Amino acid sequence: MSPDATFPQRPFPRDFMWGTATAAYQIEGAATEDGRTPSIWDTFSHESGLVTNGDTGDVACDHYHRYEEDLDLLAALKVRAYRFSVAWPRIHPDVTGPANQKGLDFYKRLIAGLHDRGITPLPTMYHWDLPQSLEEKGGWTSRETSYRFADYAATVLEQLDGVDKWTTFNEPWTSAWLGYAYGIHAPGRSDIGAGASATHHLLLAHGLGVQACRDIRPGVEIGLTLNLGAIRAGSNDDADVAAAWRNDGNLNRIWLDPLFKGEYPQDMVELYAEYPPGFSVVQEGDLEIISSPIDFLGVNYYGPGTVMGEGREHEARMAGFHVGPPPSEESINHLHSIGVGVPGRPRTAMDWEIDASGLRELLERLSKEYTQIPLYITENGAAYHDYVGTDGAVRDPERIEYIKQHLEACLDAMDEGVNLQGYFIWSLLDNFEWGFGYSRRFGIVWIDYDTGRRIPKSSYYWYRDFINANS
Ligand code: FCB
Repeated sequence: MSPDATFPQRPFPRDFMWGTATAAYQIEGAATEDGRTPSIWDTFSHESGLVTNGDTGDVACDHYHRYEEDLDLLAALKVRAYRFSVAWPRIHPDVTGPANQKGLDFYKRLIAGLHDRGITPLPTMYHWDLPQSLEEKGGWTSRETSYRFADYAATVLEQLDGVDKWTTFNEPWTSAWLGYAYGIHAPGRSDIGAGASATHHLLLAHGLGVQACRDIRPGVEIGLTLNLGAIRAGSNDDADVAAAWRNDGNLNRIWLDPLFKGEYPQDMVELYAEYPPGFSVVQEGDLEIISSPIDFLGVNYYGPGTVMGEGREHEARMAGFHVGPPPSEESINHLHSIGVGVPGRPRTAMDWEIDASGLRELLERLSKEYTQIPLYITENGAAYHDYVGTDGAVRDPERIEYIKQHLEACLDAMDEGVNLQGYFIWSLLDNFEWGFGYSRRFGIVWIDYDTGRRIPKSSYYWYRDFINANS
């Protein structure tokens, strides 16, 4: 499928940063090689029984061995940038000891390979693979972990030169809430109070990491990536409006307020006071550290969410909404809300609703209420039930359509003055989709997990031609 001559009707800026994204545990494999030690995701995938088909990241896309081939795929795609993550357990296998040279060397080769191909590296320091040894000391519920992160951040910044833009964290919400409060991601804990304290320690780690990096290399650009959303109330009923505001607090404001305003939202502090330790772990001076200025903000966006008040299933059905199972009992209990689906709205293979207007809404809110620093869409994309056709090709027109709609939303937001400077498709490759294992495919390149063979899908060729026409 070649790019539609009528799309987009307005041009993107010539220097817009087009890219694709991946993360270490999802693609690398080589889980026990060259001094890497287990992360919480190794433990969780091997032991929890909560990953579809018992899949693990042991081999994944075998990117650790096939990275040259993947770099060539990026080069042929003509992206300007590549977002990937550095695996903490490859760098600091025993957490406090010296850095592991072989782990560093892998990322040095990767970064050099990107530079050779004229591609800007955008590494993330933490995409969920906490060293298991730190989890055993409390993980993100322990303040110590924040300091260990700052040490690790300093190591990678010092050792991996040739990177001008670093991201500290990917989606701390997901680490804290799916990992510590709802028990569906590693490390699989189900405790709301732990979710709140992990929230604070992740933010503190981010702030300490930013400060450590600025001390070492003042000119470096540092940001973080949040998964933010447009949360809508199912009706104007007070119960639904209040439920939407609480969900907005947990997903958006609890991160954005401390980062950009230096304070936690009062309603969230009150809510989590009921769940010890909650925010009682906050110490004097922490918020100044957390609100250390950053140079850019990464936004991961997949779809909007609609919520209604707890116990309003009947009203939801009467209004024509779908009422699905909650992510966990804990989530309804503390946010006093239910998630509902808007009828008729298309969904991806993740069962996530597609509505690009939520992206525009979110970007405009960020720029009006929070910050004018450059924004990047660090992840956007969709899973579909792709397959290899009898002619050997993988055709994914729905993914192309999804991307186009979201790019239009980006342009709309930019027309309103939003300082958006780049867009990264999730993902370059099909990969280990966390609790869904290999059963969900987000790649613009198909992976044959038996042979490791890569087959660019039609979305890959579409994106290549689109970039060519728009840069
Ligand atoms: C995001 C994650 C990323 C990937 C996509 C589908 O939450 O950051 O690793 O799993 O979702």
